[in-house]
Amino acid sequence: SLLDIIVNNELDIDGYGACEGTLTCSTCHLILTKEDYDRLPEKPTDEELDMLDLAFDLTDTSRLGCQII
Ligand code: FES
Repeated sequence: SLLDIIVNNELDIDGYGACEGTLTCSTCHLILTKEDYDRLPEKPTDEELDMLDLAFDLTDTSRLGCQII
């Protein structure tokens, strides 16, 4: 997932991925361009959408980085 890339490359993004991909936070919130959003093969699950509802500044092209593989 995108979260794995950040963790594996030791990118220091404060607080990102607090729940380590268990879908219990929204700190991995990403806002994608419409083009990138549409290119992703998988659409968000209901569980991801529920957690996205708690994200700051939610947009129509928001995703959780830990759910993008
Ligand atoms: Fe917590 Fe993605 S890291 S929901």
